[in-house]
Order: sequence, then C-alpha cells, then structure tokens
Amino acid sequence: MEKDYRIQKILFKKEEIESRIAEIAKWIETTYENSDEIVIIGVLKGAAVFLMELIKHINKIDVNIDFIIAKSYFGGSQSSGSLKIITDIDTDIKGKDVILLDDILDSGITLAKIRDHLLLKKPNSLKLIPLFNKKVEREHDVQIDYYGIEVPNQFLVGYGLDFDDKFRNWPFVAVFDPNAKKGNSNDKS
Ligand code: IMP
Ligand code: MG
Repeated sequence: MEKDYRIQKILFKKEEIESRIAEIAKWIETTYENSDEIVIIGVLKGAAVFLMELIKHINKIDVNIDFIIAKSYFGGSQSSGSLKIITDIDTDIKGKDVILLDDILDSGITLAKIRDHLLLKKPNSLKLIPLFNKKVEREHDVQIDYYGIEVPNQFLVGYGLDFDDKFRNWPFVAVFDPNAKKGNSNDKS
C-alpha cells in the first residue's frame, strides 16, 4: 500500500498519530474531570478510526459513544457546499457533555452544520475536536476546542480519510494525487 503511485508523501505515521490521540485523551480526562459521563460522537465514516483509538485511552470518565452519518453532495476530492444528515445519533444528549469528532477540518461546513444540529438537542456542553486541522482560510466560522495535528492544504488519505471511500484503512496519513500518472511516483518512502 505504501507503494501506491498516487501517494506523494507520507506526512504522519501511525505511531505519531496515535501518540497525539493519546494526548487528546489526556486533555479530555482533565477537561471533563468533574463530569460523570461524556458522550463522544463520531462523524461517519471518517472519524471512526480516530474515535476507536481515542476511547481506548480514556479511563477516568465513563464514555458513551455514538455516530452520525452526514453526506456532502459530491464525492471525490472536493468538499461541497451542502451537507445532509443521513442518520442521526441514537443517544439522548439533553443535559450531557458532548464531544463531536471528525477526521479533518477543512472548510468547516461539516462540523458547523452538525454542531448546529446537535445544539438543538440541548446538550449541557458541546466541544468539537477534529483529528487533522487543515491550514486554510476557513469559509465557515467554526470554533474548535482542540485538535490533533495541523496539516497542509493538500488532499490527504489514510487514518480514516478517504478518496472515493477507499484508503481509510491506511495506518498513516499521506498526500494523495488522484490524477498522478503511473511511473511518476514522488513517493520517497
Ligand atoms: P469540511 O466540511 O470542508 O470542513 O470538510 C470536512 C470533510 O471533508 C471531512 O469530514 C472529510 O470527509 C472531507 N475532507 C476534507 N479534506 C479532506 C482530505 O484532504 N481528504 C479526505 N477527505 C477530506
Ligand atoms: Mg470524507
């Protein structure tokens, strides 16, 4: 898999990503030390890998997990302007401390829209934590509370991030060029 000709560069390996996720877990344990229970919601499908790794490191507070399925209108490597909630969470979050996770923050549309949707359910608190934070001028005003790793404004795959619903299983995150020509690989790994 590391030899896929469309991989331009591996940015972060599994070990680096997962040690950062362990730090996020510590931050959560400290931030919510007075909370009886927190609800961690992952945006499917991208946040699934992140959520599963994160919860293994949270031992000091009770954690309830849930998922929400949201779809933007276009696939491929472009984020689109509109987002629809396909499947809502099943947990009653009224009065609860909620954390919303996504794989990556790009334009901000996904987290902003899902945040607004969840706020209607009147949680006690809601914090937003994307694993990767793209260094871009944000089109949508979205206040995040914490994040894992800052990444360049390039198209990435792996560790939950997909291109056409593939490559989420790659244990690293890499710059990916879907239009790369075979034989011109820049992958120096
Ligand atoms: P936003 O709504 O523009 O902030 O983008 C967030 C969503 O777009 C994420 O949930 C991802 O599914 C997707 N996305 C944004 N950037 C990338 C990328 O570089 N690779 C793969 N998916 C991405
Ligand atoms: Mg996606």
